[in-house]
Amino acid sequence: MTRIALLGATGSIGRQAIEVIDANPELELVAATSGTTPIEGLAPLTQTGGDPTELLERAQADVVLNAVVGFAGLVPTMWALEHGVTLALANKESLVAAGELALAARRRGGGALVPVDSEHSALFQCAQLGEPESVVLTASGGPFRGRTRDELQHVTPEEALAHPTWSMGPKITVDSATLANKGLEIIEAHFLFGLAYDRIEVVVHPTSIVHGLVRFRDGATIAHLGYPDMRVPISYALTYPARAATPVPPLVLQTLEFAEPDVETFRLLALAREAGERGGTFPCAYNAANEVAVQAFLDGRLGFLDIAGVVEDVLARVDGAPARDLAELVAADQRARELVPIPA
Ligand SMILES: NC(=O)c1ccc[n+]([C@@H]2O[C@H](COP(=O)([O-])OP(=O)(O)OC[C@H]3O[C@@H](n4cnc5c(N)ncnc54)[C@H](OP(=O)(O)O)[C@@H]3O)[C@@H](O)[C@H]2O)c1
Repeated sequence: MTRIALLGATGSIGRQAIEVIDANPELELVAATSGTTPIEGLAPLTQTGGDPTELLERAQADVVLNAVVGFAGLVPTMWALEHGVTLALANKESLVAAGELALAARRRGGGALVPVDSEHSALFQCAQLGEPESVVLTASGGPFRGRTRDELQHVTPEEALAHPTWSMGPKITVDSATLANKGLEIIEAHFLFGLAYDRIEVVVHPTSIVHGLVRFRDGATIAHLGYPDMRVPISYALTYPARAATPVPPLVLQTLEFAEPDVETFRLLALAREAGERGGTFPCAYNAANEVAVQAFLDGRLGFLDIAGVVEDVLARVDGAPARDLAELVAADQRARELVPIPA
């Protein structure tokens, strides 16, 4: 039996994780958390809001699945890495923000870090075959693929929330529409696979069938294909290094299209790469400013194109000094949020 602690149990990933756990007699949900939604009875140990550290200590889980959205996922990520408990990581924001601190905690803890993000799960699986020379992340391009800046001037949250291939929580869906999600994923791949930024490529692939490709030094490129269904990477992360059956059908082959991303229109992709290359707490500031701006867009207080403007503005105003510990990281996140030029 594998004992699972699920953080963010009420979200899109959380609900699909429960489906995967319920369908597999070798997985047992021992603890669950949510932000505000009541979840009593969902697992032997539950908690809504607050610091999950004590719950994690009591749960004695083999795997912590972090499916919280945003920087709020930092505590369970650091706890699992520090304690050497396998971390199944959906919450990319914590790895992007904590970066080196997370890697240092993982070295001390010695546990496995298995990505749940579909692209990184794909790369992780391909990387079992050898040391990646470079990787390719695929992006669906979101609902606004092919649109010009003029055409994006007045798009609404409802339009941004209509993703063509994935059904996900609101924050990541908006991030997919701005390509900030792919930006966060570039930084996530840098920390997961130890690759320089010029070895992490992004291609637009509208049908989300190819999830990722790894290139090896002998000229071989291995790709991971499948229907876009998060139950596959969730199941892989919960059963790693084994594989379990899922209800997802085997792929019927089809024509695959790839194109260059439009980094002029979708500036958050280039800004993420830049923040990653600058290092220190620039990725943390990128993530913080983006979180605040996305919420403001969803609340109708900010235009779609202004999300990138806000992030660029904040990145120009922070010092990006590396955080020596978690307290400094939390302070850097807070400082970036305070610099966002939008009324609350
Ligand atoms: N959805 C996907 O298909 C997908 C794919 C790849 C990666 N991811 C990543 O997975 C993470 C979760 O995404 P999602 O789409 O599942 O989000 P979501 O549907 O918005 O769910 C977020 C979950 O986090 C909880 N939560 C929110 N704020 C919290 C806080 N301050 N403290 C503790 N818990 C909090 C929510 O609880 P309440 O319900 O109580 O608010 C909910 O359970 C994100 O990092 C996202 O980037 C998602």
